[in-house]
This record gives sequence, C-alpha cells and structure tokens, in this order.
Amino acid sequence: MPAIVVLGAQWGDEGKGKATDLLTTDDAIDYCVRTSGGHNAGHTIVVNGERFATHLLPSGILTPDCTSVIANGVVVSPEALFRELDALEARNVDMGRLVVSANAHVIASYHSTVDKVTERFLGKNKIGTTGRGIGPAYADKINRVGIRIADLFDEQILHEKVEAALELKNHLLTKVYNRRAITVDEVVEELRGYADRLEPMVADTSLLLNQALDEGRTVLFEGAQATMLDVDHGTYPFVTSSSPVAGGVCVGAGIGPTRIDRVIGVIKAYTTRVGSGPFPTELFDDDGAKLWEIGGEVGVSTGRDRRCGWYDAVVARYASRVNGLTEFFMTKLDVLSSWEQIPVCVAYEIDGERHDEMPMTQSMFHRAKPVYEHLDGWGDDISGCRTFEELPKNAQRYVRALEEMSGSRFWAVGVGPGREQTLVVS
Ligand code: GDP
Ligand code: IMO
Ligand code: MG
Repeated sequence: MPAIVVLGAQWGDEGKGKATDLLTTDDAIDYCVRTSGGHNAGHTIVVNGERFATHLLPSGILTPDCTSVIANGVVVSPEALFRELDALEARNVDMGRLVVSANAHVIASYHSTVDKVTERFLGKNKIGTTGRGIGPAYADKINRVGIRIADLFDEQILHEKVEAALELKNHLLTKVYNRRAITVDEVVEELRGYADRLEPMVADTSLLLNQALDEGRTVLFEGAQATMLDVDHGTYPFVTSSSPVAGGVCVGAGIGPTRIDRVIGVIKAYTTRVGSGPFPTELFDDDGAKLWEIGGEVGVSTGRDRRCGWYDAVVARYASRVNGLTEFFMTKLDVLSSWEQIPVCVAYEIDGERHDEMPMTQSMFHRAKPVYEHLDGWGDDISGCRTFEELPKNAQRYVRALEEMSGSRFWAVGVGPGREQTLVVS
C-alpha cells in the first residue's frame, strides 16, 4: 500500500493525528506529508500517556525513521515552524527528518494582521478563523502576489515580491481598516531572518515523493482541516481557504491521482465544529454540554470550545462520496458510553421535504433539520476493550448501523486517545 491519504470527514478535529500516528508506527511509513492548510491545524497524539500536539508539522515527525514533508500546497509560517520544532526538541523528542517544499507559500506576520482585521470588519458575519493568516496567505497565492519559500533565499527577488504583496494591502490597512502601513524593509528583514535555518530543509518535494513512490516506499498524506471545511465542498463561506478533500492531496503534493491506494476518512462517533457556520445536529442542551465535557472538546490550536452535536450520516455519506473513501476510521466511541439511547441523523428535513443527500445549495443546508433514528446505548466503559469482539453487543451494533448508513466500510474504531485504544473492525 504505497500511498495512503488520511483526512477529516466532518468539520475537523476528528482524530487525524491519532490515525496518522497509528499508521506511522504500525505500518512502517517512510514519508508523512502535509499537503494543505498551515498552523491552523492542531493534531493530538498520545504516546504512552504522554500528549503531543502538532500544528504545521506532520505528525510523523514523532517517528524517528519517518521523513516528514511539508509539501507545496501548505502555507508555511517559518516562525510557527521553528517554534514547533524547538518545543519538540525541548522535550527531547527523537525526531525524524523534515523537508519543506521550495514552492510552499509563506505566511508572514502581515497575513495574520489582515486575517484579524478582516474578521473584526465582518462583525457578526465573521468566519471565526484561527487568526493565523491562512486565508490571506492563500488569497495572495491565488492573486499571484504570494511569497514562496524559495524567494527567501534571494534578497532582491524577495524585496520585489514583498513590495508587490504590500502595495494593495497597505491601502486597505491604512484607508479601510485604519491601521498603520507595513514597510517592505521590515517584512524583508523578518523573512530573511528565517532563511539560514530553513535552507537545509528545502527540496523539490514533488520529485522526492514521486521517486519514493516509484521505489515502492510507503507515503502517508496526513490531512488537516476537513471535508466540510473545504473551500469548494464545505459549508462556504464558513470554511478554510484550502482543499482538504482527497483531490487536494494531488495538487498539494504534486502527485497524480492514480498514485493513491487508500483514502481513510477519520470521523467521530458524534460531531463537533469550531468557529461559525451551519451545523444541523448541533445541540444546545445538556446532551451537548455532556458531549463537550466527556469528549474534552476544546481546540488544540486556539483553545476555543468546540460546538457539539450527534453523528450526521448525511455528512458521512457526502464525505465518502467527494473523497472517494476506501474506509472510515471512527474515533471517540468511548465518549458515548453513558447514553441509554443515541440519536443519529439519517436525513434532513428541509422546508417539509426529506433529503437523504447533502442539499444542493448552502441556503438549504442552513435550513436543514435533522431526522433522527435512535440507537440503543451500551452503558459500560469500553476504553479498556482491545478487540472489536470485546465491545458490548450494543456498541458493536452502533458501529455496524453507522457503517451501513455512512457509505464506506469502517476499518477501525477508537475507544480512547492512546495508540493502543484502537479496535480493528473485523
Ligand atoms: P485532529 O485535528 O483531527 O488530529 O484531532 P484533534 O487532535 O484536534 O482532536 C481529537 C481529540 O480526540 C484529541 O484530543 C485526541 O487525543 C482525542 N481522541 C482521538 N481518538 C480518540 C478516541 O477514540 N477516544 C477519545 N476519548 N479521544 C480520542
Ligand atoms: P484540524 O486539522 C477545526 C476552522 C476555523 C474556522 C475556519 C476557517 O485540527 O482538524 P482558518 O483559520 O482556517 O481560516 O479558519 O476553519 N478550522 C478548523 N476547525 N479543526 C481544524 O484543523 C481547523 N482549521 C481551521 O475554526 O471556522
Ligand atoms: Mg485538531
């Protein structure tokens, strides 16, 4: 199985870090690659009870034999990158090698400035971004005024590019947002300051990954964000500015679609979302508070509370379809252990009509009301189970029922954050 994609099937924070870590340690993964997003991600890995969080770095960095790759589709804040590397070094983590694409776009401090002022300007219509400059960096890329990693190594080119990048931004900052202008020199100085440390890590990562696949090496593409946050296929405009779906992996890494063997959608046994935007199964009652509490639903990157709701099989089927999933990895089944009955959304009711598939328009999705089926709970703590057969019968039935309605087979189920708390569905 040379090329495996792991991606989020809901609105993020499904447990992609755990899935990646599991595959990286069990299946001798040679390369672990991030292909989209930036340090807006927060992926948690728990190894022998010790908790690690990765943001911009691929989770494979925690596996010494694994080469981690930040590919061309990622937006890279060198400051965040070094902060993350330093934090792992300070914990004496035996890290793998890290390679960064020369073509990846750079997030400079002006991107997070623009991100924050734009959000403030949007007021009640704000997206609820992470404030990390992700949207403005991708906007510059598409507007063809972005700075790429390779530009940091040539002062003259960098100067010209920063000048082009700041021209319109300074008009906006000073005349619309009432902020001070940013000087070209201060940005060039900031970015040049990263060049020496960065240079040995830089490579043509598309060439590297294609050669690795030609040699039969195993490459894991670790998704960030999720299907419902995809700029094309998510709940636009309440999305991130990249393409976290499976198709985005090819663009973000410079590999062809025929290379990919497995596409694993990570999905929680319920649903969470951070930031603004529609969420049909969201709960505002005690059940929501209980999911939040038992699930520990607080963001890894921003510390914001995650909104909580029941499992949404319409979202699962949609994720299965737009990503061409070969399987799901379901996490956090253990969180549901204390409910006698567990509602699961099987369809939506929109303006009196039943919809079994994701509605065509965003405004319909905003009006979608969940149609619930109630499944029996199991009542026992399952976090100590180590095989699928050890699960109480009703927990097995819950998993099988969800598998039936979600559009792809279930490969494994998580019953706790630890590496060992994963049950392969037989
Ligand atoms: P990611 O962004 O998709 O990598 O997910 P996050 O790390 O942001 O959030 C997932 C959270 O769930 C983390 O705190 C994980 O340690 C935790 N987690 C993952 N799988 C399980 C599971 O099966 N059970 C429980 N209780 N927690 C899990
Ligand atoms: P991981 O990889 C959950 C959300 C933000 C906001 C929207 C846009 O840990 O699953 P952005 O800063 O990207 O412009 O914000 O996307 N968002 C995430 N939500 N998990 C993430 O990453 C997210 N990355 C971005 O909350 O609603
Ligand atoms: Mg996360």
